[in-house]
Amino acid sequence: MSKTLVSMTINGRPVEEAVEPRTLLVHFLREKMHLTGAHIGCETSHCGACTVDIDGQSVKSCTHLAVQCEGSEVKTVEGLANAGVLHAVQQGFYQEHGLQCGFCTPGMLMRAYRFLQDNPTPSEEEVRIGMAGNLCRCTGYQNIVKAVLHAADALQHNTVGA
Ligand code: FES
Ligand code: FES
Repeated sequence: MSKTLVSMTINGRPVEEAVEPRTLLVHFLREKMHLTGAHIGCETSHCGACTVDIDGQSVKSCTHLAVQCEGSEVKTVEGLANAGVLHAVQQGFYQEHGLQCGFCTPGMLMRAYRFLQDNPTPSEEEVRIGMAGNLCRCTGYQNIVKAVLHAADALQHNTVGA
């Protein structure tokens, strides 16, 4: 199949690659860019394990084509920490034990990151609604909600990486 050149910025790094037009973003990230943080769960936009950030929006990369990212700013979980300092959402999940097996965690972190950019002072109910597109089969969600609220508090008080 013929290939198309696609250019984007991933975690601040400009990249240009020839891809088949049918290539899904999650496959592009994992197989071409060797960024394996975005996980593949359902492949149908339901579970959120593949969530990344594109131009300021949470996107499920299993149902988004790499060529749709032409000229975009893409952020993956690998780009959350800054110079070895965990981002507030990573610290929140760590402090509040917001994970068990960890399969959903990269997607949860990326969704939490965008959610808190859009709503820095959420209520518990708003966290639950904002994170509703990401499924976890281990935790029962309680600690995930606590983790996001912990991160919101830290970001407001500037106590950890943003
Ligand atoms: S793998 Fe993309 S939403 Fe489940
Ligand atoms: S921690 Fe296992 S799926 Fe969420």
